[in-house]
Amino acid sequence: MEKKYDTILVLDFGGQYCHLIGRRIRENGVYSEIVPHDIKIEEIKSLEKKCAIKGLILSGGPSSVYDNNAPKMDSRLLTIDLPILGLCYGLQIIAQITQGKVKPANRKEYGTAFVSIDKNIGILKGLGKKEKVWMSHGDTVYDLPPNYEILAHTKNCPVAAFKHRKKPIYGLQWHPEVIHTKNGEKMLKNFIFEVCKSEPNWKMEDIIEKMVEEIKVAVGEENAIIGLSGGIDSSVATALAARALEDKLTAVFVDTGFMREGEPEQVRKTFQKLKSTFVVAEAQDRFMKRLQKIIDPEKKRKIIGEEFIRVFEEKATKSNASFLIQGTIYPDRIESGFGKNSNKIKSHHNVAGLPSKMEFKRILEPLRDLYKDEVRKVAKILGLPKELITRQPFPGPGLAVRIIGKLNKEKNDILKKADKIVRVEIEKAKLENKLWQYFAVLTDTKATGVKGDARAYGYVVAIRAVESREAMTASFAKISYSILEKISTRITNEIPQITRVVYDITHKPPATIEWE
Ligand code: XMP
Repeated sequence: MEKKYDTILVLDFGGQYCHLIGRRIRENGVYSEIVPHDIKIEEIKSLEKKCAIKGLILSGGPSSVYDNNAPKMDSRLLTIDLPILGLCYGLQIIAQITQGKVKPANRKEYGTAFVSIDKNIGILKGLGKKEKVWMSHGDTVYDLPPNYEILAHTKNCPVAAFKHRKKPIYGLQWHPEVIHTKNGEKMLKNFIFEVCKSEPNWKMEDIIEKMVEEIKVAVGEENAIIGLSGGIDSSVATALAARALEDKLTAVFVDTGFMREGEPEQVRKTFQKLKSTFVVAEAQDRFMKRLQKIIDPEKKRKIIGEEFIRVFEEKATKSNASFLIQGTIYPDRIESGFGKNSNKIKSHHNVAGLPSKMEFKRILEPLRDLYKDEVRKVAKILGLPKELITRQPFPGPGLAVRIIGKLNKEKNDILKKADKIVRVEIEKAKLENKLWQYFAVLTDTKATGVKGDARAYGYVVAIRAVESREAMTASFAKISYSILEKISTRITNEIPQITRVVYDITHKPPATIEWE
């Protein structure tokens, strides 16, 4: 990095929302990098050669500060002159180091809470007396460390926000980075601009050059292949890789048989024009063969991840490629539990689903630190077609993780039809731009119905439609009954094997977006 960007470092204590903090900072035109929680003061000083560090944020994390192997930090960081903001676990570790008292809370708080603001200064500047915030914690600070003052409290949490009396060190028990904290953006802006005095001198274009350069340097004179599903992530990764490698790149589209109706044809049409080589691997039979007896979702994902790699290896041998490039984005990695302090939620096929032995020198993931909507911004800058940029996300394992339990061709065909009806009706109602995802799930439950005066016994299909900004949290969409009625009527009329349609009204958390 030649130009020195104003930068805020985020120390990663393993929280689900750690990268979200980084991204919220970048949204404000200030560069942000995620660094390990135990980064030493000397390492921070050496980073200053390439960026102008303006402040540190200590992320949340699933541990208790009193756990034996709780992630620690270099306590000397609290003595330097940089502004520091501790969030959740970050606040608790500041309290612990500075002789405050952290204990398990009398009542754990998960979800929305209302905090009373006692002093609206610094990070809380301009906020009201009561603020709606997102809490997710088991421990609480009970005794304030010496030299600190309380800025906010709740009924169950006497120290919900604090500040050092003299230094710009702040702690919040809640998560301002999550959209459920109503004025979270304002709080972060206060930290970035009021407290850290950063200048917004970074933009998305800067990251494109960095990613293209990274691919060029890594691959050198050799060849690479890229897994292209036709979704936004792998399409953007392909565009970047093609820019970096040109004819040294082969893009491989694996037709697993679990794509949506019409999808393989569309991918072929879009990418056959590519300057780099484009090949299609017809892999429907081998995927079905390996998956048909599997019930456990994690096993399904592992098998799919492995099978993808085997197909890629075969294609790589043909094109003499020693590198594999993937369109993995940040949420794929966090949910797969890649951080040493984070919990695994599900194995995204292209991360934790990868086999331990692979015949590639290295896997490159240029989009690994980005969120979906950042990828969309990159796509726009790269000039990719609009249909591709606005397309709803689709998981790599495809319909295989939307058919609950054992897979077979009949179920796959039924789901493809139901999914198409959902898509068509949502798009007819012009809701597609408001929704993050909308799809059907074929459950493993059967239910009785009446069709044409006769008893019917068939599958239960669930409709899932969610609103989200980055898939880390999501709300079920409050779609009107008349649209749901249209979808339900069409599905039960047009697909004889389905007798019942239900609507999933669960947010994420506690549910995930996909059912498996
Ligand atoms: P969940 O179900 O974890 O999904 O709330 C979050 C987002 O990720 C997508 N998803 C995947 N994408 N490989 C992918 O490329 C996967 O294995 C995978 N699993 C889930 C999901 O559709 C949603 O947008």
